[in-house]
Amino acid sequence: MLTLVAYLALIFALLLFLISISIYTLFLIYSSLMGSPYVPTRQKEAELILAEAGLKKGKHLIELGCGDGRILRTAAKKYQLQGLGIDVNLFLILIARTKARWQKLKTIKFQTKNIFATDIRQADYVYLFLMPALIAKLKPKLEKELKPKTIVISHGFAIKGWKNKQYKLLDRRPFSTYYYRLT
Ligand SMILES: C[S@@+](CC[C@H](N)C(=O)[O-])C[C@H]1O[C@@H](n2cnc3c(N)ncnc32)[C@H](O)[C@@H]1O
Repeated sequence: MLTLVAYLALIFALLLFLISISIYTLFLIYSSLMGSPYVPTRQKEAELILAEAGLKKGKHLIELGCGDGRILRTAAKKYQLQGLGIDVNLFLILIARTKARWQKLKTIKFQTKNIFATDIRQADYVYLFLMPALIAKLKPKLEKELKPKTIVISHGFAIKGWKNKQYKLLDRRPFSTYYYRLT
């Protein structure tokens, strides 16, 4: 009898594991279909990128396609920023919220949303790590909605046509980081 219960418990655990992996994989595919796969910024790089940004306490950071929210969480913890992280991937948003709660970070929020449906007008800083095609589609929105002097940090890929706005480059492997100031 005990062997049967143990056997059933094992089957159940295995099924649960397979279902979780399948759901996670489906969400990852969804992220890619929406414009950018989930590839997190390395934590060490995140610390360096934020240190180079000269962030000011109390300012508002919006992370477009935030994944597990590590940039926003690090900025809130180390620089007392407030802000919003958005991602189309519900699974990643749940992870971001859980980690923020563990870290007792009260000045940041995470929402499941498409970048194009997000109000970005209040941002002082915008962080993105997105594929070039999605950045190209996003560019007109950034130009229309962001206020002058907003800092846009693009990790991985340059924003085409913004060379005159770029004021800093972190030339690193595997990904460089581009800093822009809007006029
Ligand atoms: C390369 S990852 C970057 C994650 C995080 N910013 C980081 O640096 O660790 C890109 C993220 O953008 C999200 N994404 C892709 N297309 C999106 C869209 N149209 N709207 C919102 N988020 C999107 C993906 O789900 C993924 O989490």
